Amino acid sequence: MSRIVLGVAGGIAAYKACELLRRLVADGHEVTVVPTESALHFVGEATWAALSGRPVSTQVWDDAHRVPHVALGQQADLVLVAPATADLLARAATGRADDLLTNILLTARCPVVFAPAMHTEMWLHPATRQNVATLRDRGAVVVDPDSGRLTGADSGPGRLPDPEELAAVAFGLLADPDLAARAARRDLAGLRVAVSAGGTREHLDPVRFLGNASSGRMGWALARAAVLRGAEVRLVAANVTLPPPAGIELERIGSTGDLAAAMSRAAKDSDIVVMAAAPADFGPAAESETKIKKSGDSGLRLELQQTTDVLAGLVESRTDPAQVIIGFAAETPTADAALEDLGAAKLARKGCDALVLNDVSGGKVFGSATSEIRVFTSARYGDGRYGPWSGTKDTLAHRVLDIAVELRGRR
Ligand code: CTP
Repeated sequence: MSRIVLGVAGGIAAYKACELLRRLVADGHEVTVVPTESALHFVGEATWAALSGRPVSTQVWDDAHRVPHVALGQQADLVLVAPATADLLARAATGRADDLLTNILLTARCPVVFAPAMHTEMWLHPATRQNVATLRDRGAVVVDPDSGRLTGADSGPGRLPDPEELAAVAFGLLADPDLAARAARRDLAGLRVAVSAGGTREHLDPVRFLGNASSGRMGWALARAAVLRGAEVRLVAANVTLPPPAGIELERIGSTGDLAAAMSRAAKDSDIVVMAAAPADFGPAAESETKIKKSGDSGLRLELQQTTDVLAGLVESRTDPAQVIIGFAAETPTADAALEDLGAAKLARKGCDALVLNDVSGGKVFGSATSEIRVFTSARYGDGRYGPWSGTKDTLAHRVLDIAVELRGRR
């Protein structure tokens, strides 16, 4: 159980913070909600108190004998401000302490996350840009807003990201508070990163397909980590049901052929390419346009053919020699074939610069929030052997990106 302060500033997206709060509490955390005065115009105190099961205050004068403006910040494991309005960001950036939430921001020693939500003009205003840069320079994690329809008729960047995605950012930081400093470093600023995620499907007919158990969580964690570190991220998602990380360009695809086309476009001018997707390796020689009917008890014989190897294709068509291409390997080692040997052979076969090795025996890893990886680099990069590392997929995603950055530095 961790102690979380959920700060809520006065924007219409405050209603989405109710769902975020519900998710944080459901994960077993003690969440104290600290709304600003204006947040209470959107969602009342009773809602926050009922959902958190804890008292709610906005003023430093409430419950003064407990000195809440110092204690709440000092004792928190995470402070998450969602939504963070332009005004709240400005007050935080200038170190104001005119209500309980801003006092807490000055006393917190734990990771602090801001999830801004506002109209596009306000988000893009130089004053807000500067406030965001100041907060990031000081080590805060500022999540990019989503783009899309805003209150009223306008649309653009400024929407609060999906509460499920914000909860995922929070859980990653609670498990590994060091991730905040990695994000704040913004060492991927100016770089383009293409990531694939999920599992492709090869259709036998309009209703049936051959697929696999990939949830897309690892690719999601990579995209999330890369965008937090400042990269411009394109995420190609094969049949993933999770809400997308904020601030990325997303393309949803279905089959291995679609994945090959989408990744070839995404990789074209990318500096780092990570193939975390699990493509279906075999598809039917011909897809039936109509539903395949049963005929007696005779069963069904399928003729399958191999699909394109997307990763090998990306390596082959690479035009920028400085581009770093990283693959994943899902292996089920046996007494005769150790994980390391399988990984080394696959790395050589694919020709990529680094391969992230996963032992998927018994279906572990798929859908799980945690994993264990090793990373091998190619002969061109000194046959490096890293890990094993275990942790949440967010922690491991940062490790993989660290290696990508290191390999770029060696060119
Ligand atoms: N991959 C790919 N295209 C495919 C199959 C795999 O691009 N048709 C990529 C995966 O995204 C991953 C890497 O290749 O980055 C290794 O995937 P994996 O499933 O471990 O290996 P396979 O190539 O399928 O080889 P095998 O099934 O023989 O282990």
